[in-house]
Amino acid sequence: MAEKFIIQPCGALRGAVEIYGSKNAVLPVLAASILTEQPCILQNVPNLSDVDAMTALLESLGVRSRSEGDTRFLDASGVNSLDASYELVGKLRASFLVMGPLLARFGRAKVPLPGGCAIGSRPVDLHLKGFAALGADIDHSHGFVTASAKRLKGAKIYLDFPSVGATENIMMAAVLAEGQTILENCANEPEIVDLANFLNTIGGKVRGAGTDAIKIEGVPRLDVKNPRHSIIPDRIEAGTFMVAAAISRGDVTITNVTPDHVKPVTAKLKEVNICVEENEDSIRVFCDPSHKIIASDLKTLPYPGFPTDMQAQFMSLLSTAEGTSVITETVFENRFMQVGELKRMGAEIKIESRSAIIEGVSRLTGAQVAASDLRAGAALVLAALRADGPTEISGIHHIDRGYDNFDSRLNKLGASITREE
Ligand code: UD1
Repeated sequence: MAEKFIIQPCGALRGAVEIYGSKNAVLPVLAASILTEQPCILQNVPNLSDVDAMTALLESLGVRSRSEGDTRFLDASGVNSLDASYELVGKLRASFLVMGPLLARFGRAKVPLPGGCAIGSRPVDLHLKGFAALGADIDHSHGFVTASAKRLKGAKIYLDFPSVGATENIMMAAVLAEGQTILENCANEPEIVDLANFLNTIGGKVRGAGTDAIKIEGVPRLDVKNPRHSIIPDRIEAGTFMVAAAISRGDVTITNVTPDHVKPVTAKLKEVNICVEENEDSIRVFCDPSHKIIASDLKTLPYPGFPTDMQAQFMSLLSTAEGTSVITETVFENRFMQVGELKRMGAEIKIESRSAIIEGVSRLTGAQVAASDLRAGAALVLAALRADGPTEISGIHHIDRGYDNFDSRLNKLGASITREE
């Protein structure tokens, strides 16, 4: 049965909220568990439907998985299929990340072209170019990609764009290749560093993650016993709660966060007159009532630029700021799905090519709206916190993909959200 949120107007959010493990870090690490026969232990694993979808895919390939709280036990010693199912991969774009590990460890993988959030065309050409450079034969037919190679060979690979997924998939393939791989113009995201740390924990030799050149010395097998890895905090979840504090003109402390990872969001919040105090592993976001929230322009960019995954949430905030803001989306085409819905709530936004021009309004109004994807859905929840009258949001399964208990955690801060069928 489809569920929806009913959100009543609320005042300033107040209190503290703890951030869970990162969705975008755990998904590649789960895929990377295929690379070793040794059982692995992952900690700080978030409870999300995307994590369930990735686990179901791993299980369908023969990986055994068990959970205890936020700890996950994985054992890929019995992998018995190299064909990923269309139904499971269709649920989640990140499931294409099983291709690199299967190819590297077993010499073959057949994976359908991926699904996931409907934001732009999202091809996988850079992943495949990387596998081909490592010596794999690539075959496309009927919507499936088959890659095969007896053993991959290290190579120098320059990515045309610093794609997060391509960097991860190629890194995972290269750890078991013969010789050295140098990956240039690769992604710098903190999730790449987390994956490299996991690969090194299981016996890989990866250096330079977090810069735009990663060097990987291939090893014949990854056989470190009892590897254990803790997933980094989710910087997008943290950023979303930071914007929730700002849009409600509240005072919220966000704990279990790495302040460095949310710097671009912190900088923008300060620019629009929100106060942000950074501590070692927590951040306080609050408003000085004598300061109006003012307009600002922003452009999404690969890390350490402003994250595309925070663009929609920031659009909600800027819709309530004084003046005109321009948001330019450079990472994805077609990632302004929230605009039509925000306009139903009284926002004044015009799209011109890859930019959205936002005229701030003093209040939004509640309306019936639909979440079209994960971050667009989060943006609507944030807008509803600042709206007069109730807001009804359908399509909230998209929000559950990336936020565990979003509604009850916001309610603990003073929001009024109910979940109905
Ligand atoms: C990851 C994140 C997603 C985030 C995005 C950008 C995960 C599970 N998801 O997605 O939340 O929004 O990074 O920060 O980590 N591209 C190509 N060819 C390719 C691959 C990508 O043209 O082979 C293009 C895409 O269409 C897009 C851009 O590169 O326009 C960025 O995509 P990419 O960095 O690969 O994002 P994902 O890894 O899919």
